Amino acid sequence: MDAKQIAAYKAVEYVKDGMVLGLGSGSTAIFAIQAIGERVKNEGLRVRGIPTSAKSRDLAMQLGIPLIDFGDTAQIDLTIDGADEVSGKLDLIKGGGGALLREKIVAASSDQLLIICDEGKLCKSLGKFPLPIAIVPFGWQITKSALDAFCVTNLRKSLTEPDKPFITDDNLLILDMHIEHVPDAVADFEEELKRRIGVVEVGLFVGMATRVIVGYTDGHTTELIPDMS
Ligand code: 5RP
Repeated sequence: MDAKQIAAYKAVEYVKDGMVLGLGSGSTAIFAIQAIGERVKNEGLRVRGIPTSAKSRDLAMQLGIPLIDFGDTAQIDLTIDGADEVSGKLDLIKGGGGALLREKIVAASSDQLLIICDEGKLCKSLGKFPLPIAIVPFGWQITKSALDAFCVTNLRKSLTEPDKPFITDDNLLILDMHIEHVPDAVADFEEELKRRIGVVEVGLFVGMATRVIVGYTDGHTTELIPDMS
């Protein structure tokens, strides 16, 4: 069994009738959107979704999940999304798929942020996965130089046209920072990076996850919640 799918289906058990849902992005979140679609079709579950990427939007539409936007509500009950890394404190690196800006807007507007992953995403401290940073295209070289002063970054390339840059749904570029070890003061580091000119958003999600569901190939799941002590 696919561990990501196991986590996703478990997460969708938290979805209740009438909820406004944030729909995440990436291969794990896709399983969750499919599971929500099945419940809409089979149980008549009534939910409304706000997708975090064009891909998730298109899938939700295909599956008949009603969609709304922030013109309709400012508050999301529950968001289900994946992550690239999950630390022991449940801080996250996200943005491997380039959707970090919309994902963070949606996460910040959610009462609950449920993260789904396989155990390969769990780590002691963040940074082995290159940290995605969304930047504006104009003067990107200036922004890159400013960020390279912290640690070397690479301009992400398009998967389909490798001689062109990857462009996000919001027409931004992505720099991947090869930090290896994000400083323990994660929130301070995030703020420091965000102060650089041209930076729109950083793929560090600090203190945002309210629950992490880890799926395993034998079909079981474990759930982690933030330590409030
Ligand atoms: C996209 C993301 C994804 O949640 C993250 O990259 C995990 O992806 P996957 O579920 O495919 O492993 O942040 O921007």
